[in-house]
Amino acid sequence: MKIIVVATIAVIMVAIHLSSVMAMLDGYPQKGRHLFMQECRPCHMDNPIGPEPAHYLGPDAKKQAEWIEVFENRQNLPCIDYWKNLSEEDMHDLLTYLYCGASDSLTPERCGKKSFGY
Ligand code: HEC
Repeated sequence: MKIIVVATIAVIMVAIHLSSVMAMLDGYPQKGRHLFMQECRPCHMDNPIGPEPAHYLGPDAKKQAEWIEVFENRQNLPCIDYWKNLSEEDMHDLLTYLYCGASDSLTPERCGKKSFGY
């Protein structure tokens, strides 16, 4: 009986946690794209120019579920100190852009581009 109660509480806590990240998908992808170019790309491109070069990253580098995971666990990222300029609203825009351009999305990589109608 005790196990069931603990398991139920655990499931509820995971659900609340997940939905709080899912609720971040209400941002503006075009703004997110701009932020990504400005705040992430300098380090995360093929020939990085940022202070701590990293591997290429674009929305299509991950699946939707993987982007959710990245944002859920962002405190553990090696570059989280460089995210400090981002407001809560910026974070929503960024995740919305990455999620809607993920490799398994309907618009891989293209999401947030002006010509795409946003
Ligand atoms: C100053 C350089 C720098 C900036 C700016 C930066 N990163 Fe990073 N990032 C790194 C380094 C270095 C690593 C660890 C090495 C690697 O993974 O290539 C890393 C790792 C990561 C990882 C884990 C690896 C992976 O592919 O899952 C993710 C996700 C990530 N960064 C996302 C971002 C996002 C999103 C932004 C913008 C908000 C950002 N980074 C800004 C340097 C940076």
